[in-house]
Amino acid sequence: MTQFNDAELTAAVIKSFDQTPSPRAKFLLQELVKSLHDYVRKTDLTFEEWDYAIDFLTRTGQKCTDIRQEFILLSDVLGVSMLVDAVNHRDRDGATETTVLGPFYVGEHKVTPHGTDISASLPGERMFVQSRVTDLKGKPLAGVPVDVWHADEDGFYDSQKANYAAEGASSRARFITDADGRFYFRTILPCSYPIPTDGPVGQMITQTNRHPMRPAHVHFLVNAKGYEPLITHVFIDGDKYIDSDVVFGVKNDLIAKVEKRGGDAVMPDGKTSDGPWHLMTYEFRVKPGGGMAPAPLGTKVPEHA
Ligand code: BEZ
Ligand code: FE
Repeated sequence: MTQFNDAELTAAVIKSFDQTPSPRAKFLLQELVKSLHDYVRKTDLTFEEWDYAIDFLTRTGQKCTDIRQEFILLSDVLGVSMLVDAVNHRDRDGATETTVLGPFYVGEHKVTPHGTDISASLPGERMFVQSRVTDLKGKPLAGVPVDVWHADEDGFYDSQKANYAAEGASSRARFITDADGRFYFRTILPCSYPIPTDGPVGQMITQTNRHPMRPAHVHFLVNAKGYEPLITHVFIDGDKYIDSDVVFGVKNDLIAKVEKRGGDAVMPDGKTSDGPWHLMTYEFRVKPGGGMAPAPLGTKVPEHA
């Protein structure tokens, strides 16, 4: 047949992929065609709208560089990243919930002694983070690399700053859990921050009257040998944006109450502080499994010893 009505056209395009060698690739492509064609039919898409969509995707690609991935941002704000996360983590079995990796994981975090202030050069309200990694039965896991990273009090990650190459990491480190599965460090209290708004994805957010904010959080990547890599955040309870994260990444179990302490209160490692500080306490439970965490663009995930 050389001429198709619209239903026949969809069937013909689906059939054109029948000889795809990989059954999974064939399935993914044929389902994609079905969904795309349904979208065009349902919306009666005009030429102008399709041109706009092509131009938007072109600008999204043009905004990508070695250290910026505008397509991941698009996937994040459309909720696709969290949906992929959800369908791949249906049975947690009591393990800590997962959420998006985000674009600011740079890999190769430096192993840092417990108790270190990872934001020593930054202004901000001081915070002590104490944590532990266990298996599903609560047995502590020793020797586990845990990467942590978060934004500064202006809402920027170190890797977003022009002087990153010269100045190196801040608010970013790797800790190795002790014999009791514990790790702890000092830092600053992170704040809520906007996703980058200087590209097509940010423009879409503002033009559609959505806000671009993520609630304050600390990222953690727990990579225990013999267990599923855990990519998650701990969110700070009470944040103004906790119910409206622009990337839909908040889960109730990931919200921690951060307690405010006076300057005279002794910190969990027995040291004193120059002034008031906050205490974040959170335990991670990992489930048996294998495989490394996915590597974001151009970065390496932690390697097991
Ligand atoms: C982040 O938390 O770092 C992040 C996640 C998704 C999009 C933008 C930022
Ligand atoms: Fe973040």
